Amino acid sequence: MSVNSANTEAWAALLAAATCVDGASACVPHWLLWQPHSGQWLCTLPLDDPRRPMLDLYLPLCGATADRPLTIAHVGQSLDGYIATAAGDSFYVNGPDNILHLHRLRALCDAVVVGAGTVAADNPRLTVRLTSGTHPLRVIIDPARRLGEDAHVFNDGLAPTLRVVSSPQAAAGAVPELVVAQTADGLDLADLLRQLHLRGCRRVFIEGGGITVSAFLLAGLLDRLHIAIAPLLIGEGRRALRLPAQDRLQDCLRLSARVVAMGPDMLYDCALREPALSGSANTSS
Ligand SMILES: NC(=O)c1ccc[n+]([C@@H]2O[C@H](COP(=O)([O-])OP(=O)(O)OC[C@H]3O[C@@H](n4cnc5c(N)ncnc54)[C@H](OP(=O)(O)O)[C@@H]3O)[C@@H](O)[C@H]2O)c1
Repeated sequence: MSVNSANTEAWAALLAAATCVDGASACVPHWLLWQPHSGQWLCTLPLDDPRRPMLDLYLPLCGATADRPLTIAHVGQSLDGYIATAAGDSFYVNGPDNILHLHRLRALCDAVVVGAGTVAADNPRLTVRLTSGTHPLRVIIDPARRLGEDAHVFNDGLAPTLRVVSSPQAAAGAVPELVVAQTADGLDLADLLRQLHLRGCRRVFIEGGGITVSAFLLAGLLDRLHIAIAPLLIGEGRRALRLPAQDRLQDCLRLSARVVAMGPDMLYDCALREPALSGSANTSS
């Protein structure tokens, strides 16, 4: 079996596992077993099966249920920890395999969340184009409504979109809004996730940028964090993760991570709320 056909078969199985509710689907291949106690899928293929690398990376995302929703974030950064130059140039820090990975994460998740800074800088569509799967609900954190309604996500009609704001406005605009509670540090991101879960979003993907991913991480709301590191030195630019400074290394966040080769990049697959991971894999197609 070639790597391409193995990945195609694995991807079809992953989409089936992600879309069935609590393991109840006849469409999932017999080598994926639903574990009701852990709420996870178990892959029974041999470890050297060519479908394994892709399954090992994405299957942990497919176990989310209404009772156990999952939030994953991704950040693509240079070796020296930046997501863009100081002038804002960010196309592209990571290679094409990582871009494909982003589309796969969108396809597996029910909602994709980005901050206003990302829409202002990149005007992304946040749809699934490089693989098969359904476009997620697009959720744009734009508390002050600084983004114009001409942004692609607000007017291309390709997928439902919500603008997350901190207070209702009298005259409703054309973009549906989600009003989220406010805390001293900004929007209450736990309230945002709660509201998305109530709308049936079991899997939520925080795609960026650095401010937004950092806020979810600091609030302790991430189950998984993917950090894709490109062999690129930016020198001085926009930081990827922005966390409070610590004096002692022992107070810093040391993550339990599995490392996956992704073309020229290395992906750190960090489980923040699961038992430690081990091993390495290659999912380039
Ligand atoms: N490499 C990657 O993985 C990746 C991914 C996406 C984007 N990018 C790049 O990253 C840059 C943009 O990222 P960024 O870090 O500057 O901005 P960002 O995270 O996209 O957006 C930050 C803005 O979103 C709003 N926001 C997010 N969380 C909030 C909270 N908890 N409470 C209130 N408001 C909140 C705020 O909007 P207001 O400012 O209106 O208050 C905030 O300033 C661009 O250059 C883009 O190209 C890189």
